[in-house]
Formats: sequence, structure tokens, C-alpha cells
Amino acid sequence: MTSPAELPPAGHKVVLLTRRLPDAVEARASRDHRMVPNPEDRALSGLEIAARAAETGADAVLCCAGDRLDAAAIAALPDRVRVLATFSVGTDHIDLEAARARGLIVTNTPDVLTDATADIALLLLLGAARRASEGERMIRAGAWTGWTPTQLMGTHVGGKRLGIVGMGRIGQAVASRARAFGMAIHYSNRRRLAPELEQGATYHPDPEAMLPVCDVLSLHFPATAETRHWLNAERIGRLPPGAILVNTARGSVVDDAAVIDALTRGRLAAAGLDVFENEPDLHPGYRDLPNAFLLPHLGSATVETRNAMGFKALDNIDAVMAGRPAPDRVV
Ligand code: DGY
Repeated sequence: MTSPAELPPAGHKVVLLTRRLPDAVEARASRDHRMVPNPEDRALSGLEIAARAAETGADAVLCCAGDRLDAAAIAALPDRVRVLATFSVGTDHIDLEAARARGLIVTNTPDVLTDATADIALLLLLGAARRASEGERMIRAGAWTGWTPTQLMGTHVGGKRLGIVGMGRIGQAVASRARAFGMAIHYSNRRRLAPELEQGATYHPDPEAMLPVCDVLSLHFPATAETRHWLNAERIGRLPPGAILVNTARGSVVDDAAVIDALTRGRLAAAGLDVFENEPDLHPGYRDLPNAFLLPHLGSATVETRNAMGFKALDNIDAVMAGRPAPDRVV
């Protein structure tokens, strides 16, 4: 907790942080507000967040992607809390309908994490295709006996077809990076992009119809009740044999059991995954699969990006506290 000596002058609003944030972000929050930090950085349940908001007289809550703010937690938030600013572009951890019903403003942090997330998608794509984690583990285990012509042969990505499901900001940024590697871009999206954004990519109104041309499939759509386990056994069966899966969206959009089975059989050659259902308790079946290249939800994890996300969340809080429209209002 912030000690009274550290408190800014009376009249400042109380902003509750649910996790530790980068130093520059906490510095700005405590300069402009009475910041209530979470110095031990322990993950809090939604009800614990609501209880802390009540204890501290919070006017705003700055929460994160791992915080489960379901209907019960939203209902338990004191009336004084006017804005829930999430330090993420995704809002699947928040019951938006419950927030709307209660008149709670919810904001997110779009745009600033587009490039970092697209970079991680390419890292996953290349790491999965070129068997990077297998090679790294071989060296660390002292098992590398030297170069051989057939060692850890992967898949060449140049000339292959990348299918992107969800061609929003991040999908487009992934496409532009993959083009530089000589990949042919296919995409499926609710709406076809304008030609200057499409940049020669092939549009498929129906994602099902795109699957057979995806040597690599990269997922970039939100997690909702409708998209849960979208990539299931049946859809994997429509991909070309030996396709590669990349997921930087949310773990719940893939059916883990189906992906693990396909990786085990070689039906999928490899997967590069940054997100998992029930993080951090991912399906144990992934851990022993050599062809699964796994990262712990690092999509936006650069200093520059995390600072920008924090500043954006604070911009939104500042706007609401000043009676201005929040720039990134979701609800
Ligand atoms: C987001 O912003 O939704 C990410 O998953 C967390 O960086």
C-alpha cells in the first residue's frame, strides 16, 4: 500500500493497480493520482480486486489480462469506481455486459502493441518452422555432437502460403512482415480490406474455405463464446498435411486436445504458441512435444510497448476523471 507520506495532494483520484506495472508507468500514476499499487505483484481474484477497490476508495481500477473480472466481481465493485482500464487490447477477461449494465466505463490499449505482437508471431512462425527450441534444448543438454547434413531439418517459409484469420491491425502487421520472408498472404476477415491495405493478399470470405491453402495458419481474432475452440479437429483436418499453427491471440480459440493430437501424429508439423487456455496452467500435453514452440504470453512484452500500454491506460483514466470521453472506450 502507498504510505500516507507518499500520497499526492488531496483532490487526486485513487487509482488501484491490480499488478506491478513498469516503473515509468507507476511513476506517472503516482505523480498524477493517489496510486494504490500491488507491490507483491500477486495475482488477485476478481472479488479480491473489488474488495481492494472498496478498502481504498478507488475511483479507477487499472487491471490486466490475467484478472478475471466476471459478473460477480463487477457487481462487487463499489459504485465509486467509474472506469476499469485494462492494460491489454483483449477484453475477454472482463464481463463487458455486466460492466455496461452497471454503467462502468471499460477501456483497453489498442494500437500500441500491434508491432510487438506481430514480431512475436513471426518469431513463433520461424521458431516453429525452423525447430529453434529443439536446437536450443539440444545445445543446453550437451547433446549436440556437431553439424550434420540431416540435423533438425525444418520447413522453409519462403514461397509458402500464410493464412491469417482476422485481418485487423495485428493480422495486417503480421502479413507485412511475412511478405518480407517471401510468403504468399491469404486472409479471412468479416470485411474485405481496401486494396492499399490488402497489398495483393488473397481474400477468403469464408475461413473454412481458406484452410486448405494454409501452409501456415496464424490466428488473430478475439476470444468470445462463439470463437472458443474454433480450431478443432475438423478444421485441422482441412489444413494441408504438415501445416504449421501460430497463435498469439488467445489460448481458448484452439482446442488443445485436437492440436496436441495433430502435433503428435505429425498432421500438424509444428505449432508456435504464445497463449494458452487457462494460463498459466496450460495443457500438460504441450510440454513434451518437441514440435511445439512455446512462449509464456510475451506478445507485448517489450519495455517500449509495456510503457506505451500503461500510458494509454492512464490516458483513459485521466480522461474519465476529467469528464472527457475516454479515447479507447470499449463499453
Ligand atoms: C493483450 O493486450 O490483450 C495481450 O494479450 C496482453 O499483452
